[in-house]
Amino acid sequence: MSDGSQIATLDVEALRKEFPILSRDAYGKRLVYLDSAASAQKPKAVIEAMTHSMAHSYANVHRGLHLLSNETTAAYEEARKTVATFLNAKSPDEIIFTSGGTDAFNLVSYAMGVNEIGEGDEIILSVAEHHSNIVPWHFLRERKGAVLKWLDVSDDGEIDLDAYAALFTSKTKLVALSHMSNVLGAPAPAKELAKIAHDHGAKILFDGCQAGVHGAVDVQNIDCDFYVLTGHKLYGPSGVGVLYGKMDALKALPPFKGGGEMIDMVTQDAVTYNDPPHRFEAGTPPILEAIGLGASLNWMAGKGVDAIAAHEARLNAHVLEELAKLNFVRVFGRAEGKAPIIAFTVEGAHPHDISAILDRTGVAVRAGHHCAQPLMKRLGVPATARASFAAYNTHEDVEALIAGLHKTHQMLG
Ligand SMILES: Cc1ncc(COP(=O)(O)O)c(C=O)c1O
Repeated sequence: MSDGSQIATLDVEALRKEFPILSRDAYGKRLVYLDSAASAQKPKAVIEAMTHSMAHSYANVHRGLHLLSNETTAAYEEARKTVATFLNAKSPDEIIFTSGGTDAFNLVSYAMGVNEIGEGDEIILSVAEHHSNIVPWHFLRERKGAVLKWLDVSDDGEIDLDAYAALFTSKTKLVALSHMSNVLGAPAPAKELAKIAHDHGAKILFDGCQAGVHGAVDVQNIDCDFYVLTGHKLYGPSGVGVLYGKMDALKALPPFKGGGEMIDMVTQDAVTYNDPPHRFEAGTPPILEAIGLGASLNWMAGKGVDAIAAHEARLNAHVLEELAKLNFVRVFGRAEGKAPIIAFTVEGAHPHDISAILDRTGVAVRAGHHCAQPLMKRLGVPATARASFAAYNTHEDVEALIAGLHKTHQMLG
């Protein structure tokens, strides 16, 4: 984040008006949407970019020689450039559109499993990973005999760099870590982690599905080999994600899926493959979704990623301060610089009941294991509730959450 004095202030009331869904109610009450870590709401800029494309300029990309195909191809490739700028990638060719974050992890897992990761090779993960950055690596354990090595995190979700460095051996091929926990909101020291991985000759992939939403990401500065984003958390549509890969790392990967557009030449006896990024975009890609994602990233850039982060930091401080006053609430994760993703439990209440009661007060939060069962085990709980804040949330939303928790405690505590 840049110097606080240079950060523009977000006009949150005006910004909220850009989100049509926020004008609806929930059971006759003001809707307080605190589930953006699962999926964020969409501004008009995204909705209009997608409807404009469908209404005025839609055809399949890359294949046509006619006006509509050329226009749609230009819009799709423009979205790729927007993502490259958002991540500060060296080239748009390092940006692959996938069907989501999960698809991107599976792409790397499958493709590295062909030539780069085999019997006895080691992959380092942390216990704080989302299942989508765990299960594809279990596939390599089950199918190729790879070994998963687990990095512990502190109660706040922080990584101990010495403990991390101690996990490497000459067999370590890959590190796959979240840049920010979807439960504890803790940011990872990505640049330091990448340097240690490279010093040991291993590649490193970051799960940026949460980090990409809450602050600027610079993949060249981090110097990672792979970085994953998902569209629907970035105020964009579902059905699209991003795999950034350093060009050398991408060139080393064989294709994941076979089909149209990813080939150089197909004969009855042989096939040769296109260069990245097209090698990894078999078939008709998520055209409208990529255009929508481009619009959402432009929308974020227009508001200022740092301005959004500064607003969220104020909400984070407010909600943590208010929650600390509730002696019946246990908060998980207070790492320095954390995002406003707040996991908590209420004494005597199951997280599902917390969510159900809050829902009736108009407050939408998530409850469950958050696709992070190893982290739940580490924290010693089966599940938590989770309130997650975004650019459109307000201090009034914090107060609504606190009032709802008092009610929950009265009913269940
Ligand atoms: C940290 C993290 N990684 C990966 C994912 C998976 O993203 P998707 O479901 O969009 O594929 C999520 C979504 O919840 C997430 O929070």
